[in-house]
Amino acid sequence: MTAQILDGKALAARIRDEIAGKIATLGFRPGLAVVIVGNDPASAVYVRNKEQAAGAAGLAARTIALAANTSEAALLGLISELNADPATDGILVQLPLPAHIRAQLVIEAIDPAKDVDGFHPLNAGRLALGMPAIIPCTPRGIMRLLALSGHALQGARAAVLGRSAIVGRPAAALLTAADATVTLLHSRSRDVATECRRAEIVIAAVGRAEMVRGDWIAEGAVVIDVGIHRGADGKLRGDVAFDECAARAGAITKVPGGVGPMTIASLLENTLEAALSRRARPG
Ligand code: GUN
Repeated sequence: MTAQILDGKALAARIRDEIAGKIATLGFRPGLAVVIVGNDPASAVYVRNKEQAAGAAGLAARTIALAANTSEAALLGLISELNADPATDGILVQLPLPAHIRAQLVIEAIDPAKDVDGFHPLNAGRLALGMPAIIPCTPRGIMRLLALSGHALQGARAAVLGRSAIVGRPAAALLTAADATVTLLHSRSRDVATECRRAEIVIAAVGRAEMVRGDWIAEGAVVIDVGIHRGADGKLRGDVAFDECAARAGAITKVPGGVGPMTIASLLENTLEAALSRRARPG
């Protein structure tokens, strides 16, 4: 079988164009504030990509870069200012934060209506209950890639590998809401390969390079690779051993060019939607 490549780069470009078209008709520019603390090199690249994509789509995007020794109180002060700023529709604090700052406290300080990462417990809780919520960007992008695959989700067996707050848990909630039968696998799960092999849909978000092997994949399964790892050779790899898995999958994403661009496109969608719903009921 030749697997369909789920081209996240091309799909994300289409979504960004759509968003740019909508923003051009609004009469205002939705505002996105991206906050980065310290100088983690990977985070710096992600933040630059987010600001650049947001600007290109017509959002008023700004990055607020704070020194690594910024105090927790100072960061919380900035969040309150952004919460109160009428021109700021979306607030994103890039993770990870330096160890002396309690990330959960910072996340909980963000106005849930401006929480375009969907990490606030109010949004996470609403998603877990199947209620309308701001959806975390990576899982939102994953659902678009699954739609692109054409594989019906209703009743489908889905294996989600990884239970992080950013990807695994919200992806499991979205798949559940879409009527899939979800198995959430994690570092303490037994027989992960066997569980995975039963699945028609595999979401790999484990954070270990090429952990998912070809013989974990059922013939024709849809495989979404959330991992990103730079090897000693400088090449990017995912959580999925691509060649082995592509030989069995019906559809599969690549790294790079799969989930990554979709995460950014989803951030733009979340910011536009946050702007529209906040401005529909100001205050
Ligand atoms: N760090 C890794 N992924 C993300 C993300 O989606 N949002 C934020 N804020 N930080 C991250």
